[in-house]
Amino acid sequence: MPTAIAPGRVNLIGDHTDYQAGWCLPMAINRHIRLTFHARDDTEVPDDPSHILRTVIQVLAYRGAVRGFDAEIVSDLPIGAGLSSSAALEVAATMAAASANGLHLTPLEVALVAQETEHVATGVPCGLMDQLACVFGRVDHALLLDCRSNAVTPVRLPDNARVTVVHSGMARTLAASAYAQRRAACETAAARLGLAALRDATIEQVEDDPMARHVVSENQRVLDFVAAMGAGDLRNCGALMDRSHASLRDDFLVSTPELDALVEIARAHGAFGARLTGAGFGGCIVALSPDDLTPGVEADYRAATGLEATIIPVRASDGARIEHEGVS
Ligand code: GLA
Repeated sequence: MPTAIAPGRVNLIGDHTDYQAGWCLPMAINRHIRLTFHARDDTEVPDDPSHILRTVIQVLAYRGAVRGFDAEIVSDLPIGAGLSSSAALEVAATMAAASANGLHLTPLEVALVAQETEHVATGVPCGLMDQLACVFGRVDHALLLDCRSNAVTPVRLPDNARVTVVHSGMARTLAASAYAQRRAACETAAARLGLAALRDATIEQVEDDPMARHVVSENQRVLDFVAAMGAGDLRNCGALMDRSHASLRDDFLVSTPELDALVEIARAHGAFGARLTGAGFGGCIVALSPDDLTPGVEADYRAATGLEATIIPVRASDGARIEHEGVS
């Protein structure tokens, strides 16, 4: 039976920019959801399918999909940690549903169907970063995403750059409602300026509006980060990550004391820089360092907060695909 394999993602820099037509720099990671599927002959919707799987079929219905599929799902991607397990499930299910129905979708269409599924199934008005990263991932590369044109440009990671994810041990409980509020605040700020999106604002236009200031300054940090990486200047990359975290914490108000403690500890253990990654409100940080971070980070975090952190070393990986039995 075929298996749809979809990776999670970590975002190196550029958070809360995608839904304002901005820039971000995620990479797909070597943790995956594997969905082995078998097309059904009937058109029945089972009583208790996973919400996301059922929604994928609904979203694809206008393209002619009617057959569902039986699926077995295994995952080594932590669920609900902020590493886009839901985007990975949506992408895997979209590819499986398209395949079961003989539909051809371009990679961008797969990402868009997956995003629409997230909107319908969870009510979270997410941008397209997670789904694009999951679909377009490239081994050894981060992906520069232009969230206006949806252009994806792979950017090679320097050989001496280690990317480590550390989970804070805090669930992302407020994420859904607070995410929607942040997005609405950005839309209000753009409308006040008469702009289609904050992508078009200058830093001078938003200097008195901390939320909008985060988005505008974060876009510039993404572009500066890509330039610094191209020059092999990992110290500057780290400094940009630190400034990104400060902006997410002080201007955009999506950090937590635990995430703040964890980025400090990662830096104290030799990271060039560290920041919360994804929506915030708990979940993970990402650190860039010369070597993998060591368990000393977990010990110091336990001493500071009483919580258990989990180090997840990651490698940039290829995007989602379907594998057929006997073919690797
Ligand atoms: C979540 C959303 C993304 C993006 C990030 C913040 O991961 O799904 O679209 O907005 O938050 O950068």
